[in-house]
Amino acid sequence: MRHRRSDDWTSDSVQQPRPGEVRQQTYAAPEVHGERPADPPPSPEPVRTQAITPEPVDTPDTTVIVDPAAIDPALADPEAVAGIVAPQREMASAEGETLLEVDGITVEFGGLAALDDVSFDIKRGEILGLIGPNGAGKTTCFNAITGVYRPSRGTVVFDGKLLGKVKQHQITRLGIARTFQNVRLWGEMTALENVAVGTDARHKTSVVGAVFRTPRHYREEHDAVDRGMALLEFVGIASRAAEKASNLSYGDQRRLEIARALATEPKLLCLDEPAAGFNPREKAALMDLIRKIRDDGYTVLLIEHDMRLVMGVTDRIVVLEFGRKIADGTPAEVRENPAVIAAYLGVPDDDIA
Ligand SMILES: Nc1ncnc2c1ncn2[C@@H]1O[C@H](COP(=O)(O)OP(=O)(O)OP(=O)(O)O)[C@@H](O)[C@H]1O
Ligand SMILES: [Mg+2]
Repeated sequence: MRHRRSDDWTSDSVQQPRPGEVRQQTYAAPEVHGERPADPPPSPEPVRTQAITPEPVDTPDTTVIVDPAAIDPALADPEAVAGIVAPQREMASAEGETLLEVDGITVEFGGLAALDDVSFDIKRGEILGLIGPNGAGKTTCFNAITGVYRPSRGTVVFDGKLLGKVKQHQITRLGIARTFQNVRLWGEMTALENVAVGTDARHKTSVVGAVFRTPRHYREEHDAVDRGMALLEFVGIASRAAEKASNLSYGDQRRLEIARALATEPKLLCLDEPAAGFNPREKAALMDLIRKIRDDGYTVLLIEHDMRLVMGVTDRIVVLEFGRKIADGTPAEVRENPAVIAAYLGVPDDDIA
């Protein structure tokens, strides 16, 4: 009999970080991977942002409230906002066609496979869930897709392009944006500045253009502010545009991360546990936001532990366990899948039908 982790399949009881808590990656490997090294490995993601300790909502003396409609009346009209936020870029894949194809990827750490021959695809316009118990390889999968790790085997093809040796920043430019399991923002910058930085990824001004402040530079800077305000309004935090990111509530920081990712006008938005630490009301609001993002023309890959959220918002779900794909189907199919139930409830292999 193989012991499995017994994460609660249906309830909210999966351990999530609370506001103010800095969540650590779980590096305790399942026994199938053998012994883990004594020290946890370094963070796989680039450490260029400032860690934030979220503060209580609306701290009275630091709260800065902006009236978005006073800045631009168009921001009072949700349709106009959605129009500004919608992706405008050319894409090789048509709606409903394969946008991302992950084929047989393996990612190893010191000989242990965090991902083992995993294949799945994402259609353009879809919300795809990526689920699995702690340590199943979900974040590693994001890291392999976004160029943080190079798979030792297998390929990733995105919008018709083999990612192979493409570097992280080039992958962002090609159209894959992500948020992180632990919130990463520039805490000393305002919410608007954080988003405007995201739009930089799409800018064409050279360093020389920025230094000499060419007309294109001014235009792009102006566009970044306009689009940044629309993005903040879209995710529901425009009134906090002038607030330092570190002063935002935890939920608003998570929304800001999504706005910043959308600022790059991604063809694919990857969200790593966006609802971690949320209460049920916040989770419901987040589900609405994810649907709204898809309806606005984006494709979404969602890692999430909360089954109610995943089942309620995704079109299809891929399930990982111990680095392997154990299921792929609609939420209804996955919910009934014996291997998935076993993975979550700790049923012995012998009992799986
Ligand atoms: N940089 C690394 N070096 C060594 N091992 C790693 C590294 N990153 C991840 N791992 C291991 O790979 C496995 C998968 O980790 P990963 O973070 O992808 O899991 P996860 O499904 O995202 O889990 P969680 O739900 O806890 O976030 C784990 O056993 C983890 O310890
Ligand atoms: Mg993870």
